[in-house]
Amino acid sequence: MKTALVCGAGGFIGGHLVKRLKREGFWVRGVDLKFNEHAETEADDFVIGDLRDQTIVRTVIDRRFDEVYQLAADMGGAGYIFTGENDANVMHNSATINLNVLDACHKRNIKRIFYSSSACMYPEHNQEDPDNPNCAEDSAYPANPDSEYGWEKLFSERLYLAYNRNYGMQCRVARYHNIFGPEGTWDGGKEKAPAAMCRKVALAGDGGDIEVWGDGQQTRSFLYIDECIEGTLRLTRSDFAGPVNIGSEEMVTINQLARMVIDISGKNVAIRNVPGPLGVRGRNSDNRLIGEKLGWTPSRPLLEGMETTYRWIKGEIDRHHNRQSGS
Ligand code: NAD
Ligand code: GDD
Repeated sequence: MKTALVCGAGGFIGGHLVKRLKREGFWVRGVDLKFNEHAETEADDFVIGDLRDQTIVRTVIDRRFDEVYQLAADMGGAGYIFTGENDANVMHNSATINLNVLDACHKRNIKRIFYSSSACMYPEHNQEDPDNPNCAEDSAYPANPDSEYGWEKLFSERLYLAYNRNYGMQCRVARYHNIFGPEGTWDGGKEKAPAAMCRKVALAGDGGDIEVWGDGQQTRSFLYIDECIEGTLRLTRSDFAGPVNIGSEEMVTINQLARMVIDISGKNVAIRNVPGPLGVRGRNSDNRLIGEKLGWTPSRPLLEGMETTYRWIKGEIDRHHNRQSGS
C-alpha cells in the first residue's frame, strides 16, 4: 500500500487532499496544530503537532513516505496578510516549517514532496493593471512581492528547488491562485474574498447591503478546490518540478464576484464599497505552462463552484444559528 504524509491536514486544502488520497487507496498520515473545524478527518493517523518543532517533525516523518504534501503555513486572506500586523509570525512560522519538513524528508531519503507556494510571490509592479496582470511563471524575477507572505513563499520555493539540485530530490512546486470551496475558512479574519462574500450575503437581509473592500474594481481569479487537488496530484506525480501556476484564468472584479453571490442568493442586496486591505490591483492565473507541461488545465466555471460554496456557507450559518437558538 502506498503511503502519504499531509502536512496541514487540518486545513482547507489539506483536508480535501486527505479525502482524495484515501479514495485512491493510500495509507495517509495527517499532521496539523488542530483538527479540521468543518469535517471529520479521513486520515488513518492524525498527529496534532507543531511543525516548527524539529523533534516533532522527525517523529512524524518516521518512514519513507511515497508522497509528502507540505501545505502547512501561517496564512490567510487579505484581512490577514496585507495588514502588516502578522508579518513576523507569517515569515518565521512558515519558513521554519519548510526548513524542518524538508530536512527531515531528506534525512529519511524521501524524494517526492509537493510544496504549495502562492501567486502572492509575483512582483507587485506586474499586477497594477486590473485588466492585464502578468503572472507568467517566468515573470517572477526581479522579485517584488507586495507582502511578507509572498517573500516567504519565494524563499521556500527556492529552498525546495535547491534540495532537488543538491540532493537529487523530486520536489514539486505549485503557485496556487486563490482556492475556494466548501470546508474552507469563512469567518474569523483569515477568510478570502469568495467565502467572505458568501458569508456577508447569507447574513444580509433582503433589501440590505454588504461591505466590499476597495472600489471593487480590483481583479482576481478563483480556483475551485476539486481542480486544485487534481492539479496538485498531477504535478506531484509528473516529471516537471515547477514552479507552475495552479489557478483559474476566469478573471473577475471583486464587485462582479459579489454580484454573482448576490444573484445566487436570490436576494435583493446592494454593494457598498468601503476602505480595507487590498493587495495587488489585478491578478489572474496564466495557464500556458501547466497546459504545456501537464497536458491539463482547470476548466470549471467560477459560477458552479460559487453556487456550491454559497450553499455550504449558508448551511453552516443556519446550523450555528439553530444551535444557538436551541432548535
Ligand atoms: P489553511 O490555513 O486552511 O491550512 C493550513 C494549515 O496549516 C492550517 O490547518 C494550520 O493549522 C496548519 N499549520 C499552521 N502552522 C502550523 C504548524 N506550525 N504546525 C502544524 N500545522 C500548522 O490554508 P489552505 O487554504 O488549506 O492552504 C494550504 C497551503 O496552500 C498553504 O501553504 C497556503 O499558503 C497555500 N496557498 C493557499 C491558497 C488558497 O487560496 N487557499 C493560495 C495560495 C497558496
Ligand atoms: N478577504 C476579503 N474579505 N477580501 C475582500 C473583501 C472581504 O470582505 N472585500 C473585498 N475584498 C478584496 C480584497 O481587498 C482583495 O483586493 C480581494 O478581495 C481578494 O482578497 P482575498 O481573497 O482575501 O486575497 P488575495 O486574492 O488578495 O490573496 C489570496 O490569494 C493568494 C493566492 O492567489 C490570499 O489567500 C493569499 O493567502 C493567497 O496566497
